[in-house]
Amino acid sequence: MNRLPHRPRRMRRDDFSRRLMREHVLTANDLIWPVFVHEPAGRVAVPSMPGVERVSVDELLRLAEEACELRIPALALFPVTAPEAKSLDAAAAFDPDGLVQRAVRALKARFPELGVITDVALDPYTAHGQDGLLDDSGYVLNDATVEVLVKQALSHAEAGADVVAPSDMMDGRIGAIRDALEDAGHIHTRILAYAAKYASAFYGPFRDAVGSAGALGKADKTTYQMDPANGDEALREVQHDLDEGADMVMVKPGLPYLDVVRRVKDAFGVPTFAYQVSGEYAMLKAAAGHGWLDERACALEALLAFKRAGADGVLTYYAPQAARWLREG
Ligand code: PBG
Repeated sequence: MNRLPHRPRRMRRDDFSRRLMREHVLTANDLIWPVFVHEPAGRVAVPSMPGVERVSVDELLRLAEEACELRIPALALFPVTAPEAKSLDAAAAFDPDGLVQRAVRALKARFPELGVITDVALDPYTAHGQDGLLDDSGYVLNDATVEVLVKQALSHAEAGADVVAPSDMMDGRIGAIRDALEDAGHIHTRILAYAAKYASAFYGPFRDAVGSAGALGKADKTTYQMDPANGDEALREVQHDLDEGADMVMVKPGLPYLDVVRRVKDAFGVPTFAYQVSGEYAMLKAAAGHGWLDERACALEALLAFKRAGADGVLTYYAPQAARWLREG
């Protein structure tokens, strides 16, 4: 026998010592459930996201009940806007009786303890599917877009949203929204900044789900979302958003960007979230559907990996399923 100075396998030998040295744990407290809300009654399946449905406000209340029952802390709402509500000025984004605003009021009336997060961005409301207003050349205007985002965020706060989450990547929007919230007395409204949001091809199924893919066509979002080649830039973006008053920051997409999650957590130590986006979900579902991956094991492993990388929580379409799996143990 060799006399080895180290035998790391000793600690892995038995279940008791594996459990004792386990560093990270995933619980339902780590999950944020993104949901798609639409105007028609009932539910419609999203083909590229098996198990995910667009739901009416009535059905949304059923999902909220499920979230409460599973101890999922919060829902993140994404509207599916009817084509006739889309325009060049995205005015429907800040309609006090818009779909999101009504959904928030209904949720907070029935489930006051459930966190409600709203998406602040114009892509569901613009006829062209970009996250902001365009100039004549098709460039997304920054400051003019921020003015609309401020109105949108205020309308969400007025409806009772607990957290507004700007996912648009315009410059200066966190500061402008924070100022407006303070001025209006919404001092408790949290801002979850999509601080490091990349121009990713992994958003494909989401754009199908909300119906912005067709409007966007071959256009992309590379003049405002970040280049997947960049890491240092993410730290600068996070720094700006924190300086401007963000309470929490997000890295998006998730699994291919765990290095960014780790760097953000190490550099700032603030509440940091990651978004396991639609394409990541679709990949797992597709492979599992073919019988090529063990869905439960792979999904829970991926979610735990976010925790290990430094995320405090994960936005995931797996939220209800993962919470059920975790409960089963
Ligand atoms: C749009 C928005 C997107 C997602 C969340 N908010 C898509 C985009 O930027 O085009 C993607 C989420 C996902 O893929 O699950 N503001």
